[in-house]
Amino acid sequence: MYNVFQATEENIARAAGVIKNGGLVALPTETVYGLGANVFDAKAVAKIFAVKKRPTFDPLISHIADFDALPEYVETNERALALAKRFWPGPFTMVLKRKGHAAGVDLACSGLPTATVRMPAHPVAAALIRQSGVPIVAPSANLFKSVSPTTAQHVYDGLGENVDMILDGGACRVGVESTILDVTGDKPVLLRAGGTTLEDIEEFLGEKVLVSHGEPDRPSAPGQLLRHYAPGHKLRINAEKPEANEFYIGFGDREGELNLSPKGDLCEAAANLFAFLRKADALAGDKTLAMAPIPETGLGLAINDRIRRAAHD
Ligand code: TXA
Ligand code: MG
Repeated sequence: MYNVFQATEENIARAAGVIKNGGLVALPTETVYGLGANVFDAKAVAKIFAVKKRPTFDPLISHIADFDALPEYVETNERALALAKRFWPGPFTMVLKRKGHAAGVDLACSGLPTATVRMPAHPVAAALIRQSGVPIVAPSANLFKSVSPTTAQHVYDGLGENVDMILDGGACRVGVESTILDVTGDKPVLLRAGGTTLEDIEEFLGEKVLVSHGEPDRPSAPGQLLRHYAPGHKLRINAEKPEANEFYIGFGDREGELNLSPKGDLCEAAANLFAFLRKADALAGDKTLAMAPIPETGLGLAINDRIRRAAHD
């Protein structure tokens, strides 16, 4: 693991040098690890798609560290600015109309007229973005369709030495990706459930948020494929109890070989989710996987979204 480095001040400075020189850095955020590059460097952005084996019709999120960077990059509106103030830094991403047509940005946005922007809450991510002096475009640092990484080891397991530098900032606190909200239209639309709850967003806005299920007349996130986040073993979800040939991942009172949160805490379950899917995969042997039901409230929306895709075949 010659490319894994503790996220010390010195190594963050080195990583900023890698970004400025067109390289790729895997960085910790509070949600999952990202695979980062300079958004204005088309060659570096192209490398992200190649390393992840991700199709280029699937656009990437740009990460900023300061509010001033927002209007340089996208057209803002009153609602977007209010949401940014309330939920940034944090696991919250907005789709906005984009400005300018730098080649790297064009590729990062898959040629769409919109861009996604988020301000991560992780101090290492913020320091790296500031020192790089550019927005860092970063998808989750895993191979396309596979389970998202919540530790530096997960990044290494998936991408190996194809990344110039992996900054190790420990396990991700939130554990599921950011919530994506489209704020380009009259009504806000939820494109991906994530680390910021729908309830919190609706309460703050004082209005209902439309939820996209990929209908053609509503915007959707191109990356939300039916099968995604997939472990190697078959997974059955909403399983009240395991069958004889199943490795059971429990929740709350439903005990299993693993338990996402014995006390039934959805934050704890989200933080454990991807790591436990990997662990279950490693431990299950000839068995298949089954997971206990997860309540469809708060972070449960994001968890259920991920496991529905993980279970899809
Ligand atoms: O928490 C996160 O958001 C993590 C960390 C690294 O920040 N990033 C992440 O990126 O999850 P990624 O690339 O795995 O997922 C980004 C999603 C994809 O489903 C993509 O299709 C969607 O965002 N997306 C990006 N730009 C979009 C746009 N302009 N319109 C609609 N969806 C967009
Ligand atoms: Mg991803």
